[in-house]
Amino acid sequence: MDYNISIIPGDGIGPEIIAETVKVLDKVGEKYKHSFNYTELLMGGVSIDATGVPLTDEALQTAKNSDSVLLGAIGGNVGQSNWYSLPPNLRPEAGLLAIRKGLNLFANIRPAILFNELKSACPLREDIIGDGFDFVVMRELTGGLYFGDRWTKEVDGLRTATDTLVYNEVEIARIAKQAFEIARKRRKKVCSVDKANVLDSSRLWRQVTKEIAKDYPDVELTDMLVDNCAMQIVKDPRQFDVILTENMFGDILSDEASMVTGSIGMLASASLGDSKLGLYEPSHGSAPDIAGQNKANPIATILSAAMMLRYSFDLDEEADRVEWAVREVLKKGYRTVDIMSPGNTLVGTDKMGDLIASEI
Ligand code: IPM
Ligand code: MG
Repeated sequence: MDYNISIIPGDGIGPEIIAETVKVLDKVGEKYKHSFNYTELLMGGVSIDATGVPLTDEALQTAKNSDSVLLGAIGGNVGQSNWYSLPPNLRPEAGLLAIRKGLNLFANIRPAILFNELKSACPLREDIIGDGFDFVVMRELTGGLYFGDRWTKEVDGLRTATDTLVYNEVEIARIAKQAFEIARKRRKKVCSVDKANVLDSSRLWRQVTKEIAKDYPDVELTDMLVDNCAMQIVKDPRQFDVILTENMFGDILSDEASMVTGSIGMLASASLGDSKLGLYEPSHGSAPDIAGQNKANPIATILSAAMMLRYSFDLDEEADRVEWAVREVLKKGYRTVDIMSPGNTLVGTDKMGDLIASEI
C-alpha cells in the first residue's frame, strides 16, 4: 500500500528524532512492501522564521490531505528565544494548538508504561512499582481552557487577565466514548478525573461520562478529583488503566505520568479524531538545550510512528515489529544518555536509530 505522511520535524531536537524515525519507517516499508511518501511541513519556530506564522494555511491543508501526520517537537527556550517576544497567537505553541484544532484531533492518548529494562530509571520505590504499571492518559485536546476566550486588560485600574473553560456535552461525550473503547481493548477500567467539587464544567463532565458509561456495562467507571489523582499517580500507579480527563488536567497529569516511568524519552502519543487521520508525536518537548548534539532519545518518536501504523493505517503486525525492535535494542543494552545506567552501552541519537532500524 501507499501512504502519504506529513512530516513535521519542528524545532530543537525535532529534526534529529524525526530523521531516525524515518529510517525505521523506511525499513518497515521495505520489509512489508509498503511505500511511505513523506511531505515535510513547517510548524513552530522554524515556520515563524520562514513565514512569520507558526503554521500556514497551506501547511494545515497539506496535513489535512495526508493519511497521517508525524511530528517531532516544537518550541524553544522561553527565556532566550525571540519567538517568545511575539504575541501569544504567533508563538510556536500556537501552531501545535492550531493543527490539533484544524484536524479536529480531540482525543490525545499518552501511554505511561514502565519498561522492564528501564526499571532502575523509575523514581518510585520498588514496593510501589511491583510488577510494573501500564496505563494511558486520555486527554481532551481541542476544548477547555486552552481554546476558550481570553483577554488581558485593565479593570478598575488593575491589570486583569481572564481565561475561560468551556465544554459542551458533545465534546465530553465523544472523548468519553473513545476512552471506553480504548479501555475495552485493555483492562476495562476508566477513571474519569475532574474537579467536580468546584467547577461547573467538571460537574457536567461527570454527568455526561456517567451517561456514556451506560453503553459500556463491561467497563468499570470511577471518578477521581484531579488533585487526588496527582497524588495517586505517585502513590499507586498500578490502580490505573485509562485516565480520562479534560485538556489542562490531562496536560499536567500526562507529564507527571510520563515522569514516574523514569523515561519520558520513551513515551509516544497519538492524537485522534473521528477519522483515520491522526497526529503522532513524542510526549516530550523540543529540548533546545541538547538540540544538534546527537544526544536526544529518538525512541518516543519511533514508538509514535508505531502507533501511527496501528491506529491510522491498521498495520498491526508492522507496529508490533517496531515495538519489538525497540525492546530488542534495549535488551542488548544500548542506551541514550537520558536512560543510561551502569553496565550498558551509551549511544547517540543516530546510532540508536540505526540499531532499531536494523532489528526491523
Ligand atoms: C503538550 C504541550 C502543549 C500542550 C503545549 C506546547 C501547547 O505541553 O503537548 O502537552 O499543552 O498541549
Ligand atoms: Mg504538556
